[in-house]
Amino acid sequence: MPVMERPAGSEAVTTPILTTPGPILLLGAPGAGKGTQAKVLMMEWSIPQISTGDLLREMRKDPVKSASPLGRQIRQVMDAGQLVSNDLVQAMVLERLKLPDTRRGYVLDGFPRTLPQAVWLDQQLGRQNQALPVVAVNVQVSYTNLLRRLTGRRNCPTCGRIYNIYSNPPQNDTVCDVDGTALGQRADDSESIACERLRMHEALTAPVVAHYRDLGRFAEVDGERPVDDVTRAVMDAIVRLRS
Ligand code: AP5
Repeated sequence: MPVMERPAGSEAVTTPILTTPGPILLLGAPGAGKGTQAKVLMMEWSIPQISTGDLLREMRKDPVKSASPLGRQIRQVMDAGQLVSNDLVQAMVLERLKLPDTRRGYVLDGFPRTLPQAVWLDQQLGRQNQALPVVAVNVQVSYTNLLRRLTGRRNCPTCGRIYNIYSNPPQNDTVCDVDGTALGQRADDSESIACERLRMHEALTAPVVAHYRDLGRFAEVDGERPVDDVTRAVMDAIVRLRS
């Protein structure tokens, strides 16, 4: 697993303290900044980031799993910008939530992404008798900026730091500021696949936002502002929803 580094564009900001953050959902379109914000919440509040996209990409790196028929199917689906089946993602989340580091809380990033996943999660959390209910924050960014962010994103394969060649570039064009590793680009960040991901999001994930808005423990933040401003807005919203 990569060593975790603060995302590019994020400085150490003064943040509210939350002793028990509980389950937090970060919602938002591809490129909205969920991963960027989840990494800051993880560092500031010492809770794990559970990204279904990262879990699937880890699975793809495993030579045995990726060579299996299921592994090949996942690769095809992700590379086409489509969604992996609900059953598979739910099974992965269920396993991850069993780990003891989730006891004080966690940030789910990229899940739930369909209404059946949201209903499944509500049932799971109900069964687990969670001390705190889930809170959801939706990060909003315009279509034009989402596309620019996705096509401009670069990642460090060693430390996991996220950059953007337009908004948060590395000091040297092509290598990570932290460890000098050559930066990479996700296969699904090409313009055509990014457009397909945004289309899927509009069709399948919009009802998830409506679901959590209706439940009431929900906030929306403007994700167009600088990374630290978005962090403050996300944290303030979570603290408010928890009070
Ligand atoms: P996943 O990895 O979850 O991708 P995603 O949801 O499409 O989200 P991204 O990781 O692309 O964006 P992000 O919002 O995290 O943005 P980031 O912080 O990196 O999923 C990948 C695939 O896996 C899916 O397509 C699907 O196939 C499958 N999958 C995953 N979960 C699934 C599920 N639940 N069900 C079914 N299938 C599933 O930021 C983006 C860029 O913007 C970066 O370059 C960053 O530096 C920049 N940036 C961030 N914040 C700011 C800011 N405030 N100002 C300027 N630039 C910023």
